[in-house]
Amino acid sequence: MAGKERMLVTGGHALEGQVRVSGGKNTAVAVIPATLLSDEPCTVENLPDIDDVHALADILTELGAKVEYEPGKSMRVDPRPAEGNRVSYRNAQRLRASYYLLGALLGRCGKAYVPTPGGCEIGSRPVDQHLKGFQSIGAEAGEIGGLLTAESDCLTGGDVFFDMVTVGATVNVMLAAVKAKGNTVIYNAAKEPHIVDLANFLNSMGARIKGAGTDIIRIRGVQRLHGTTYAVIPDQIETGTLMIAAAATGGDIIVNGCIPTHMDALSAKLLEMGVKVTDYDDAIRVHVVGPRRAINVKTQVYPGFPTDLQQPMSALLTTARGTSIVTETIFESRFRHLDEIRRMGARVRVVERTAIIEGVQELYGAPMTATDLRAGAALIIAGLMARGVTEIYEPEFIDRGYEHIEDKLRSLGAVISREEFC
Ligand code: EPZ
Repeated sequence: MAGKERMLVTGGHALEGQVRVSGGKNTAVAVIPATLLSDEPCTVENLPDIDDVHALADILTELGAKVEYEPGKSMRVDPRPAEGNRVSYRNAQRLRASYYLLGALLGRCGKAYVPTPGGCEIGSRPVDQHLKGFQSIGAEAGEIGGLLTAESDCLTGGDVFFDMVTVGATVNVMLAAVKAKGNTVIYNAAKEPHIVDLANFLNSMGARIKGAGTDIIRIRGVQRLHGTTYAVIPDQIETGTLMIAAAATGGDIIVNGCIPTHMDALSAKLLEMGVKVTDYDDAIRVHVVGPRRAINVKTQVYPGFPTDLQQPMSALLTTARGTSIVTETIFESRFRHLDEIRRMGARVRVVERTAIIEGVQELYGAPMTATDLRAGAALIIAGLMARGVTEIYEPEFIDRGYEHIEDKLRSLGAVISREEFC
């Protein structure tokens, strides 16, 4: 019987040196389904070698597309043979972004049937805005017994007003609207870097999208989209996680191949803590020169402090000097990692969407379990700071969104490994 795996982290080693960040998970999982909208083969480069990308390669294959994928390199998708319009339950459950096949298939063939997705359990994560968005451009969309459906004989551009800023629904409506008849305007659109990257990818195929990165995205529908070769942007959240790891260990690292302006909200908070952050053209240096002060953090939609960095950051704050207040405004249940880090001696109190973190002198290694992707990253951050050895169970969560994170950290001097256990 193949044993399960656990990660082992020995704390107390300051991270030093240079590391290159991988391509972005949340951009890759939007761009890969978008290849189905093309009438010709597309090649997507700079893809991270992560489980979410592997799952999407399998989904496109099960739909009949010809997929040539070299992990950690590029993926060539020839959508021409794809005749499917239904994603299997098993594949849909492997990641949250499987629901992007709704928009891609609706735009490709007017019919899409996708079981409700998997992904991190960080809140209820409804999909009402996705369905509302599809309905606003002429589709019948709904959910019947755990199956999301979207159908239209003729998608027609329209005005889409989201009740809140939602990355997923913005992506899904973009995917469907690029081939609708007429113009679509998305109001209250998400502005994350991966939204801009998706728009750039679609425009490289001949789509006509303006305003990505602002609150209002305007899409002029076209009949055909041609093939393209496109490299996705670097991963904003991996960059931030590495920056936080350097701050946590009192280190001095340079993250290469990133986009510093994407990191402004985190950089500002690290500077507030007393950590030195220096931006270069496509690199960021994080250098700890003294004690790290407690701060207050409130997650916001981009360009605010990203919710995906709240968990690694709140792990760092458990040893900051003073008491920090962390408010999670995006998801209603994104502090479960702190229940785990309490086992290491952290002093944390959670009241609804706010964590009150009283900095302690030192954490000590303990066994813990990752409950979701970024919670797993938070446990690594805590382990890097702790005295002794930390065991992290369910590290598979981490593999969904970080490409070979142990190798990257080990190259910076971390003592981190993975072993099977029975
Ligand atoms: C995307 O999730 C990301 N996932 C998440 O990253 C990220 O945390 C989130 O955006 C916010 O930036 C991917 O890109 C694959 P939302 P998504 O729709 O699209 C509510 C990670 O760790 N909402 O922006 O699911 C929702 O409940 C993952 O990489 C509705 O109410 O997030 C939440 O409270 C975790 N109805 C808020 O909006 C809807 O129809 C924002 O969700 C849609 C969303």
